[in-house]
Formats: sequence, structure tokens, C-alpha cells
Amino acid sequence: MNVKNKPLLFTILAECNSSKARVSKMQLPHGVVDTPVFMPVGTQGTLKGILPEQLEKLDLQIMLANTYHLGTKPGVDILKKAGGLHKFMNWNRNLLTDSGGFQMVSLLKLAEITEEGVKFQSLNEQKSEVMLTPEHSIEIQNAIGADIIMQLDDVVKTTNPDKERIEVSVHRTTRWLDRCLSAHQREQDQNLFPIVQGTLYEDLRKISAKDLIQREVNGYAIGGLSGGESKEEFWRIVHLCTDLLPKDKPRYLMGVGFATDLVVCCALGVDMFDCVFPTRTARFGCGLVMNGQLNLRSKKYEKDFKPIDEECECDTCQKYTRAYLHCIVTVIPVACHLLTIHNVTFQLRLMKGIRNSITQGNFPKFVADFMLKNYPDKN
Ligand code: GUN
Ligand code: ZN
Repeated sequence: MNVKNKPLLFTILAECNSSKARVSKMQLPHGVVDTPVFMPVGTQGTLKGILPEQLEKLDLQIMLANTYHLGTKPGVDILKKAGGLHKFMNWNRNLLTDSGGFQMVSLLKLAEITEEGVKFQSLNEQKSEVMLTPEHSIEIQNAIGADIIMQLDDVVKTTNPDKERIEVSVHRTTRWLDRCLSAHQREQDQNLFPIVQGTLYEDLRKISAKDLIQREVNGYAIGGLSGGESKEEFWRIVHLCTDLLPKDKPRYLMGVGFATDLVVCCALGVDMFDCVFPTRTARFGCGLVMNGQLNLRSKKYEKDFKPIDEECECDTCQKYTRAYLHCIVTVIPVACHLLTIHNVTFQLRLMKGIRNSITQGNFPKFVADFMLKNYPDKN
């Protein structure tokens, strides 16, 4: 590799000697990210219920935003005038943007994928048809200015068994990567990641990874999972993909954020994760704990004066009880704020626990303790 300045420097600091887990430092334009990392999702340039300065206080190092939503509102011109999303949203740490097509396909049933791009009914009032091409996705992502940007990919659900269609999606994703790379204007300060596709077919995953790693990029993502397949199939594909991807670059598993999946996939050599789950479940009145989640709407918390989690150091757990949260859980703005603080803190604490145990050489014990706590009946 040449020595020119790169917008991403990935340094492995510690490796587990009985799994593929590793701890690394990922230096990005807006600061260091300690990996394995969980990245919460702020689709429209805000993480609902919490301010960027509060996220900074929690020591969050990177969060997600979404290209299509921001491309619609505020749009490329205003993003450029604002000097990019970091400035616009008052977040001076790292950002990652997903390319937009996946959200459209999963949100809007009417999306249609052709070689040109993803066509769907626009979210704006006119309800017009719009086409998101690889070039347009990159144009929006260049205007947003996130530290890591994603290629537009052709995602097929893991529950779709049509191998011919999946084979098309694998090769199309590679062609779209090349179009994204050609359109990319900010190689000096934005890292474009390819996305391995191929659903549950090992031969197609191999073709996808082999083609993508020919391209000179600073990290890779594994896509098309966490869509209703069994855990065994999910883990088998993650294990295969981390074997196929270069060891010296970050590996990002998209759309995964349940605690058990984070622990297992760290063992399989994944470095980065994102998911709407912790913040979305907060909005539904659920607080995460080491062995699952508490639904604070439940009457059983009416007289429970303990915090959500006695071991949690977040402001919510320091200052408020389950009984109080139960009482105000229908006051959405407040409940959402307090539970989001807790749930983001929970994810950060879990990832720090994983990193520390890898560094100290006792990750296998961490995994065993975690599984015992979470699945006590299985032992
Ligand atoms: N988020 C979760 N899975 C995926 C995927 O396969 N592709 C993209 N672009 N985003 C995702
Ligand atoms: Zn807490």
C-alpha cells in the first residue's frame, strides 16, 4: 500500500487467541473510533430524543445518518451551503451515511431496482417517481460529508431463495461500486466502503467478496443479513465473510445491534455495527438490560423504585426509578429522552466490555458470562 495520507488509519491493538475478535483504533477525519464499535442511527441528522452535545458527553465517537432522507430534506444545495452535515447538525465527531437504496427498498414497497438504480415514489409531497442512482447517492453523500460513506447496493432479502436474482444483485453491486468510485469527489476526506452481498449462498458471497476486494478501499461492509434468516445461517455467513475480507481493514456488519449478535459477531471478527433497535425500542418505552429489555409500560414496574439497571452509570439510572419511568412512559418526549440516554449508554458499555476483555485476554470468559446471564435456562 502506498504511504499517501489516508482518511482512515486502522491499527489493530489486541487480538483474541481463541476467536477472530480484535480491538483496533480507527482514525477518521473527525477523531478516533475504538472498535469493535456500535453506531446508533440518526436517520434525518438527529438521534431522536437526544442532542449531539449529550451524545458527546456519553463519549459516542460515531453515528449514522441516511442519504436519501437528507437528500430530500434539506437537500444537496442547503447541505453544501451549510458546510456539510457535521456543521449543520452541530456534531463535530464522526458520521457514517448509508447509501439510501436499502432504506427505500425496506420502507417503500413500491421500489423497483433496475441496472440504472433504485426507482421509488418520492417522500416529498408531490409523490413523484425518483431514481436513486449510484452517482446521485454519492453526490448527496459528498454534500453531507460523512467520514465513511456507503456504496449504493442491490439488496435482496435473505428470505428470497431466487438464486438467479441474487446472482444478478451480486454482480450489479460490484458494477454499482465502480460507478460510485468514479463519481466520488472527496477521496481525501471520505472513505467509500463496498458492501458484500449474496444472501445465504456461500458461493455467491465468495464471488462478491473476491470482486470487491480487488478495489482499493479502506474498509468493507457485509450487507443483506438480519432479515429473517435463522441465527445459524446468519452466523455461518458472517463467519465466511470475515474470512474472505482483508484482516488489516475494518469490517462493518450492517443493520445488526441485538446484544447477543454483537457479542457473537465480534468473536467472528466484525469491527463495526449499526442498528435502529436500541433507539427505536427506547421510543416504545423499553430499557435495555444485560439479560434482555424491560418494557416500562408494564404495570409490574409501578412500585419498582430501582433504576433500570443498577450497574448503569447513565444520568437516567442515577436519577430516575422504574416506577417513575412507568408513570411517565406515555409522555413520549420525556420518556424517549430518558430511555434513549440509557439505551445508548447500554450499547456503549457493552462494546467497551467486549473491547476491554479482548485487550485483557479474557474475551472467552466475557462471552461465557454473557451467555449464562442471557440464556440461564439453556445451561
Ligand atoms: N442496512 C442493513 N443491511 C444493509 C444492506 O445490505 N445494504 C445497505 N446499504 N444498508 C443496509
Ligand atoms: Zn442507565
